[in-house]
This record gives sequence, structure tokens and C-alpha cells, in this order.
Amino acid sequence: MQLQQTPVKFSAAQKVVVWEAFDVADPMVTAAGKLYEKTLTADERIPWMWIEQSVQDRTKSKPRPGGWSRHLILAAPEGRQDDPDALAGYVYGALLPGYGGYLCYVGVAESARRMGVGGRLYDQFFKVLRVAAGELGESLPFVVWESHRPDPTAPAADWENWTARTRLFDRVGGLWVDGVDFLSPNFAFDEEDDDAPPVPLQLFIKPMDVPEAAFTPERLRDVVVGGLHRQVYRNEPGSPLYDRTLPPGCEPRLRPARAAGVRKSERGELV
Ligand SMILES: CC(C)(COP(=O)(O)OP(=O)(O)OC[C@H]1O[C@@H](n2cnc3c(N)ncnc32)[C@H](O)[C@@H]1OP(=O)(O)O)[C@@H](O)C(=O)NCCC(=O)NCCS
Repeated sequence: MQLQQTPVKFSAAQKVVVWEAFDVADPMVTAAGKLYEKTLTADERIPWMWIEQSVQDRTKSKPRPGGWSRHLILAAPEGRQDDPDALAGYVYGALLPGYGGYLCYVGVAESARRMGVGGRLYDQFFKVLRVAAGELGESLPFVVWESHRPDPTAPAADWENWTARTRLFDRVGGLWVDGVDFLSPNFAFDEEDDDAPPVPLQLFIKPMDVPEAAFTPERLRDVVVGGLHRQVYRNEPGSPLYDRTLPPGCEPRLRPARAAGVRKSERGELV
């Protein structure tokens, strides 16, 4: 008789394994999709199908010269890497040749939180991108990611998650790009809908081959608009999202990620 495995309950003592997914038909990838949809709001995420597609493309065809190198990394307790109930978390992102790394999404199963899984996923992602850059003969100047700060009236659970995010970012060496509200398209609305309110995002950077001191306001502006707006979102100067992200006089600067976690009241006071 085969013993049925019960849905996973993690313990801090369990060894966690992280690995890159290459098979889109793997039930662990499906489990990652479920976790993705459960942990991120609709306006923060693209359809999971696109992520699956990129995993499939990566295994079926050689990357185009200059094309993104996309990676989906999964985590599970040792010995349970085939058990979808045991999926502990995932991270997804890409190397943008000539620019840097872009971490798109990360999520950890509720029962596996605060055990270092998020940190492990980030570290593995940084390593995988280093290898991907090395394969192209490039360095990896930095990895950038975005995150949506709740508005001041959001429920306590959203603020708790924001604290978790900023502590995780801090733990993995991420720095907050203070002074910028990066305006991104709202995926909860139709692409053609001009009335869709943009989603303001905070940006975080992990300096890799370029030291922190090299990220001057000028370079940060370039990372934000030259890379994210132009390469990722295809927004050009003159488009509202591009122009409103970095209004004249905006001086972005790097600060510890924890500083982004401070909660503000509706009137902008620290609470
Ligand atoms: C944010 C998230 C990925 C963190 O994952 P995690 O595996 O719990 O994080 P870790 O265990 O690696 O913890 C990293 C740091 O955050 C802290 N932390 C984690 N959860 C916390 C919480 N709820 N409150 C306060 N601190 C928290 C940890 O203590 C640790 O800090 P420390 O090393 O200084 O003690 C997880 O909460 C999650 O999946 N949230 C929902 C999805 C999401 O918000 N994704 C991020 C999109 S940008």
C-alpha cells in the first residue's frame, strides 16, 4: 500500500532545495501558477500562460541574439520536489542583455513563510543570471525589481506583506530607489483602455558587478526610463507613463530597502 502524502507543513528544520524549471508540463510548474495567482493581485501580474510560454520557448529554441533570457526557479523541501502540494515558492525573471537583470515575480506558500525561502529564491536567481550573463560574455551590473506599496488605507494584511517584502529585499542586499514612483500599466484592465489607472511601483536594485556608489541620480534615471520603460514596457518619451515617472527635478537615490517599508498616513506622515 502506498502512503498518501499529506499537504505540506513546513518546518524550519527542513532542508529546502531550489532548482530551475524547464518542463512546462511539470505539475510543479502548474502549482507555481496557482501560487502566483493566489499571492499577487490582478493589477500586479501578467497571465501565467505567458510565463509558461517563456519556459517552453527557452527549452525549444535558441535565444535570439540580444533577446531576454527568462528563468523560472522553484523551491520545495528536499525529497518533495515532485509533490505539487509541497511547492514552497517560485521566482521568475529575466536577463536583459546590455541592461541587467529584471526580477519580475516572487511568491512563497503561506505555510513556508519566514523560513528563509524567499531569500533562497533571490540568491539562486542572482546566481542563475550571473551564469546567463557569463554565457553571453557580459557582466551583470545589477538586478532590478518593482513592488507595489499599499495605499495608506489598505488593510493591515497588505501592510504586513509590504513589511515582509521590504525586509526580504533588505536581507538579499536590495536597495530602494527613493524618489521614484514608477508608473506601470494596469494589467487588470484591457490594454487599450486609456482610463485604466496606472499602477505606481517602488523600485529596488541589487548592485552586482557595479558598486553601489556608481548609481548616481543620472545613472538611476537611465536604469528606470532607459531600461524599464523602454525595454520592458515599450514606453517612449512623450508617453504619459514615461513622462510622469521621472518629472523634471526628480533626483532618485539609493537607500536601504527597509526605509521603503515605513508606513505613511493619508497625509503623508510617518505612522
Ligand atoms: C514577501 C515574501 C516573498 C517573503 O518570503 P519569505 O520566504 O517569508 O521571506 P524570508 O523567510 O526569506 O524572510 C526574509 C526577511 O523578511 C522577514 N519577514 C518575512 N515575513 C515577514 C513578516 N510577515 N513580517 C515581518 N518580517 C517578515 C524575515 O524575518 C526576514 O528578515 P530577517 O532576515 O531580517 O529576519 C512572502 O511573504 C510572500 O510570498 N508574500 C506574498 C507574495 C508577494 O508579496 N511577493 C512579492 C512581490 S514583489
